[in-house]
Amino acid sequence: MTLMTYLGETYGEKTADLYDTLYEDFAPPPGQLELLASLSGAGPVVEVGAGTGRIAVPLAEKGISVIAVDASPEMTAQLEQKSRNLPIVPITADAADYVAPEPVPLLFAVFNTFFLLAQEDIQRAFLRNAVRTLRPDGVMVLETFAPRPGQRLPDGPHPGVFPVDKDLVLKRQFDDAVLLFSAERHAARGEFHYREVLIRDGQPSRVLPGKMRYWEPEDIDALAKDAGLTLKERRADWDGGPYRPGVSAKHVSLYTPALSR
Ligand SMILES: C[S@@+](CC[C@H](N)C(=O)[O-])C[C@H]1O[C@@H](n2cnc3c(N)ncnc32)[C@H](O)[C@@H]1O
Repeated sequence: MTLMTYLGETYGEKTADLYDTLYEDFAPPPGQLELLASLSGAGPVVEVGAGTGRIAVPLAEKGISVIAVDASPEMTAQLEQKSRNLPIVPITADAADYVAPEPVPLLFAVFNTFFLLAQEDIQRAFLRNAVRTLRPDGVMVLETFAPRPGQRLPDGPHPGVFPVDKDLVLKRQFDDAVLLFSAERHAARGEFHYREVLIRDGQPSRVLPGKMRYWEPEDIDALAKDAGLTLKERRADWDGGPYRPGVSAKHVSLYTPALSR
């Protein structure tokens, strides 16, 4: 496997069986669930890139119906196992193709999933599909890091790094294992390739690839505008802190279909 053959389902194919171990202590902050719940109306809501349900499961436990879309059948299978008694519908579909059967009040893609769509044409298709999936008064929520070369990523207790050029950092230590993060930036293409490397005593090492097409927040706004979405609000985090251009490490951005008031 090389990053040259990286497809929408590659991340999940390589990562799904380890995802809940690697992110076991990355619980969604209360403000995240509160904001998403407050925008859910009578539901259902759509999460694109739902993975193993780190967000979808606690949202569904609040009684909100979630259509959980992911390109990876391995991720969908993990979610199916833990969502049997919850109002979650796991669907294996690529973000470039999925449109909900009925318009919904909320669609969201968090934890840098928009960047993991990895190609501009897929990101543009996702945004066009978001407009078709949302009710006229619906909201799309995106959460991504703001590209800050040389800084650790703003996600969770064991962050990777967004490199100036190439970098290798320690992400996490277990009693019998280490998780390393090897990253390279292709600035001219706006691409960020990385590998999480798990080395565990007595076991073959695992190499989990990720590929991102990253953007400044203002560039995402331009892509969204092309698709028919208008920026309604930008926050620095899930607690509603003010976003400071060029300073904030990440953003939580709310968009509405352009014709809604
Ligand atoms: C960083 S994980 C986030 C999972 C979960 N939302 C969370 O916060 O823990 C990103 C997810 O996006 C999925 N994904 C990547 N490319 C995709 C695509 N083109 N269409 C749909 N899902 C995709 C991956 O399989 C993965 O499960």
